[in-house]
Amino acid sequence: AAILPGGYILRSLRASDYSTGFLDCLRVLTTVGDISEAAFAERFDFFVRQQGTYYVLVIEDTATSRVVGTGALVVERKFIHNLGIVGHIEDIAVDKDQQGKKLGLRIIQALDFIAENVGCYKTILDCSEANEGFYVKCGFRRAGLEMAHYY
Ligand code: ACO
Repeated sequence: AAILPGGYILRSLRASDYSTGFLDCLRVLTTVGDISEAAFAERFDFFVRQQGTYYVLVIEDTATSRVVGTGALVVERKFIHNLGIVGHIEDIAVDKDQQGKKLGLRIIQALDFIAENVGCYKTILDCSEANEGFYVKCGFRRAGLEMAHYY
């Protein structure tokens, strides 16, 4: 059953999550940088204005009111495939001391549910070889090859 362990809730990101550990949670994934509250609010508002494009979810530990997990879905509208819509899963992170409790799996399932319901014909993501097994358990399979051009 797609239920969280007790003591956690899954919800959308809020502007107030600047102060609940959301950015620290992302630090298990990569460099986040030193982001001011104003800069955070500006980016958050941008996401909100792009209605139906950015879905950022968090898992909150209800005992501490802290964010311990997060993940995002970016919805891309195309011309091809009859105006097809593709979901992109991005920036999945679970606090180190909270890993292995199926929180990551629940985040992916929730993002997948949104993607299917907004009409995506597929959802794709990039990950390291080390994370392949996690995504296979979430129902994904290896497809394609990532290329990148860094600036
Ligand atoms: N390799 C193989 N299997 C794994 C891995 C892995 N690296 N990680 C978890 N699993 C398995 C678990 O054992 C579990 O299997 P089970 O159902 O048989 O028990 C299943 O996958 C679900 O695991 P969860 O407990 O939901 O995983 P967790 O909550 O620990 O989250 C995550 C996994 C998100 C990868 C976490 O370890 C993490 O935050 N890592 C650091 C950041 C990171 O690498 N994020 C992903 C980047 S890719 C992207 O964002 C698109």
